Amino acid sequence: MTSPLLWYLNRGTGIVLVVVFTLTVVLGVLATGRSVTPWWPRFVTQGLHRGLAAVSVLLLAAHAVLAVVDEFVDIRWWQAVVPFGATYQPFWLALGTVALDLTAVVVATSLARTRLPHRLWFLVHLTTYGAWAAGVVHGFGIGTDSRVGWSLVITVACVGAVALAALARVVAVLVGRSRSGRTGGSGGRGGRAAAHARQLVPDGGAR
Ligand code: HEM
Repeated sequence: MTSPLLWYLNRGTGIVLVVVFTLTVVLGVLATGRSVTPWWPRFVTQGLHRGLAAVSVLLLAAHAVLAVVDEFVDIRWWQAVVPFGATYQPFWLALGTVALDLTAVVVATSLARTRLPHRLWFLVHLTTYGAWAAGVVHGFGIGTDSRVGWSLVITVACVGAVALAALARVVAVLVGRSRSGRTGGSGGRGGRAAAHARQLVPDGGAR
């Protein structure tokens, strides 16, 4: 099956996906950093993060299915999950595939979160940065419109937003670490490690 509609839908879902995925990552960082004010309580940040994550997954599934269903270019179903062997734009397509695979692992571990060690869940969750980056580079490399002005603005804004959020997070962790170092932490080495873990890990490790 092929039609210009499928192609437009594939491109449209790709562009919207980059924006929604970016918002998901930024809100995830904010939820981890506990940016809490009376007007912006943490359950709002976390609720939005989870809601947008679900929308990202649906968009990603639609985007990949549309790419496979549109027979104008030859992309087999398995090439949406295996990052080798594609004939159409193999390198750029593989980056999209890697993004999809990483996202699948992050979603699976998040659904099983209560049954996993918190640290393991958190380390796997960090690979979301990799999934997001692979998806953005894939879109830039393979996209028909990616060098057009409005598309460049979206890409630069998304990269800037995640870079700023990640930087703010690193600074917050470093400041927290130096503060707990100065005060001697709450109860020696173990206390400092626990305080640091609470800063790094969303929900303070609570399930
Ligand atoms: C997180 C993962 C992904 C993101 C963020 C993403 C994003 C994008 C973006 C932004 C575009 C450019 C649209 C345009 O400017 O025309 C695009 C194009 C495309 N994507 Fe993805 N994508 C992802 C995963 C995938 C996967 C898994 C596949 C494989 C089935 C795929 C197949 C394609 C194809 C074939 C195009 C080319 C459309 C065209 O001809 O312009 N993408 N993607």
